[in-house]
Amino acid sequence: MKILVAGGAGYIGSCTTEYLLDRGHEVVVYDSLVKGHRDAVDPRARLLHGDLADRDRVFEALRAERPEGVIHFAAFIEVGESMRDAALYFRNNVANGLNLLDAAVDCGVRKLVFSSTAAVYGMPATVPIPETEPTKPINAYGESKLIFEKMLRWYNEVHGLGYTALRYFNAAGATERRGEDHHPESHLIPIILQAAMGQRPHVQVFGDDYPTPDGTCIRDYIHVSDLAQAHLLALESPLCGSFNVGSGSGFSVKEIIQVAREITGKPIPVITAPRRPGDPPRLVSDSTRARTELGWTPRFDDVRTIVASAWAWRQRHPNGY
Ligand code: UFG
Repeated sequence: MKILVAGGAGYIGSCTTEYLLDRGHEVVVYDSLVKGHRDAVDPRARLLHGDLADRDRVFEALRAERPEGVIHFAAFIEVGESMRDAALYFRNNVANGLNLLDAAVDCGVRKLVFSSTAAVYGMPATVPIPETEPTKPINAYGESKLIFEKMLRWYNEVHGLGYTALRYFNAAGATERRGEDHHPESHLIPIILQAAMGQRPHVQVFGDDYPTPDGTCIRDYIHVSDLAQAHLLALESPLCGSFNVGSGSGFSVKEIIQVAREITGKPIPVITAPRRPGDPPRLVSDSTRARTELGWTPRFDDVRTIVASAWAWRQRHPNGY
């Protein structure tokens, strides 16, 4: 297949690009490089430098490349930032994304796979969370992704554009060559590993008074290569709709820190800090639909393997890309 990957210089986008190329697909990356890294783009892919805000450039790229499938990763992802500047999220994640949808329709793209998020559920009443759980985001980031899912449904109905929205839980881990590197870093596992390397004095645990067994938030960590697998299956599948992609197992912040201490052999100092606004206590997926309907079978479904892969990458790239 020829696949255009929007946001292919970011963390999940670059790992998915590598996964698709390893399986013989042709990949064109479209990325603004505002958040992504040029060095994260697999040299076997072609990089088109452009922003989704530039409608003419998006159309030009799709018309020149004529991909069968599009994967759309290009978005802002910081929950906290979305609560300080909601317009940034609606403009980039919704309005700019429309240019990609219109260009996909214009060029007769068969299927578009979209990076959605567990943040669409807000504070779920049912955990593990099935896709039937009501979607009630508690931050502008989650709302921007949910609006885009709804737009996809209508583009399917009105224009026949096939789509799958993958609701990721906590993407983590690394391939041999590609890993997680945000500036500034806000994600738990890279922060823990920076502390293990002595690049930070400690890890702040955001709240230890949640209604969970050890008082810290529980998340569902899923290896980035397993997420990549879900994208290819979604592109190949005729099914349209939204699917959870997570391991189905929950680990608390304190448990992740303990796993990292065992894997790195470093002490990793910790301090307790106030809760971070917008953090639900427990997010764990029920990903039965992805497994049964897409045939998704995670291969690195173990939190130690995930942290070990992130640590191996971090040691090779102590300062990121
Ligand atoms: N945490 C800390 N200290 C830190 C960083 C994080 O205690 O320095 C905690 C957070 O409070 C949270 C957990 O570790 O309880 C995981 O935090 P991350 O920032 O790594 O991930 P989130 O669960 O907040 O967010 C992730 C994605 C989002 C997505 C969300 C969906 O990064 O893009 O999952 O639930 F929206």
